Amino acid sequence: MWNPHAGALRVGIIGTGGIAHAHADALSTQENVELAVAVDLDAGRSEEFASKWAIQRTASDLCTAVANGELDLVAICTPPASHVSLALEALALDLHVVIEKPPALSLEQMHTLMKAEAVSRGSVSCVFQHRFGTGAQRVLALQEAGRLGRPLVGTCNTLWFRNQAYFDVPWRGLWDVEGGGPTMGHGIHQFDLLVHLFGPWQEVTAFASKLARKTDTEDVSAGVVRFESGAIATVMNSVISPRETSQLRLDFEHATVELEHLYGYDNDHWTLTPAPGSEELAQLWAAAETNIPSGHSAQYGVILEHLKAGDVPPVSLAGAHPTMELAAAIYASSITGKTISRGEIGEGHSFFTRMDGNLEPWKQQTAEEPGKVAPKQGAEKVGADA
Ligand SMILES: NC(=O)c1ccc[n+]([C@@H]2O[C@H](COP(=O)([O-])OP(=O)(O)OC[C@H]3O[C@@H](n4cnc5c(N)ncnc54)[C@H](O)[C@@H]3O)[C@@H](O)[C@H]2O)c1
Repeated sequence: MWNPHAGALRVGIIGTGGIAHAHADALSTQENVELAVAVDLDAGRSEEFASKWAIQRTASDLCTAVANGELDLVAICTPPASHVSLALEALALDLHVVIEKPPALSLEQMHTLMKAEAVSRGSVSCVFQHRFGTGAQRVLALQEAGRLGRPLVGTCNTLWFRNQAYFDVPWRGLWDVEGGGPTMGHGIHQFDLLVHLFGPWQEVTAFASKLARKTDTEDVSAGVVRFESGAIATVMNSVISPRETSQLRLDFEHATVELEHLYGYDNDHWTLTPAPGSEELAQLWAAAETNIPSGHSAQYGVILEHLKAGDVPPVSLAGAHPTMELAAAIYASSITGKTISRGEIGEGHSFFTRMDGNLEPWKQQTAEEPGKVAPKQGAEKVGADA
């Protein structure tokens, strides 16, 4: 177990592809951190990565990495299907784990991780980096201080563009490997932020379709979410939108807060428009003293503070669960045609073990037959299992 007074936090990065560079970059700016080992199934990749980030050791798996040197934390940057097995292996070794999104492929896997974390001296922190920029933190602080009033209306759009070549990579667009399409893989960042700022969600009604890409999953989904507060928000997740944008609009009683960015934001991407009579909020908003962009660096800063204090760092598994549950509910609603409540997808429910409810709704549909809605033939099965 890491003792910050005894030495640097020794980190292993598992999976040295695209996103691993964001982890290495973020970690190399933190104090008291040593990038100790680069782990990848592909030795050429781990060696190239190690050379770029001045990492002394490489390994082909976690077991070898640990056998050849001490570690305190692993950052799991592999494709989604291996996240849980690697995290379980690390927790069994009492290591701290930072896990890329999505942390798991199903709610069942989230529960497995929680149980393993409960008996480990290690902890799990899920990457949802948009919670950690100054803009989001300020909205949350204003909200918690009661300055914004009740949340009322929201829109949350992830309108991105991924061409067919993107989906031709072996692990993309497959339920077994990626857990879903843009709902699990892309929009999850933005609706995680929506849930973080708007509070507990209550129920969702959704549609999803495969309109333009050859994948097994959806390439667009849309949900209408009611929150416990009574607020209502729409959530759109797309990878077929030529003008890309990520947008969040939150109408509170006393102000509209808006964020428009693409893959990360800083203060300039946020605006606050006060309601008549609440003009003082505009001055308050303009007086930002810090400008920490959203990103891995911001989240690692907070993770390290918590580890130093001996606390479970954010985003904990419990903290990520409502977001994963909303993803599962968007799939369950769009595939069965029913409104899904939070808490409904528990053990015994078809959508607990797989985000497609084991129905593979778009597998037989080709991109040449656009617009076909998800088949509902499994709806009875869902009801029976629930
Ligand atoms: N937080 C973000 O903004 C963000 C952005 C992009 C990707 N991601 C997530 O990061 C993860 C990785 O995505 P990527 O684009 O970097 O993938 P990638 O394909 O570029 O890299 C994955 C690497 O993992 C290695 N690998 C696969 N299985 C392994 C195993 N069992 N042990 C060791 N190495 C293994 C591969 O050889 C490859 O080098 C995904 O979960 C993705 O959703 C997050």
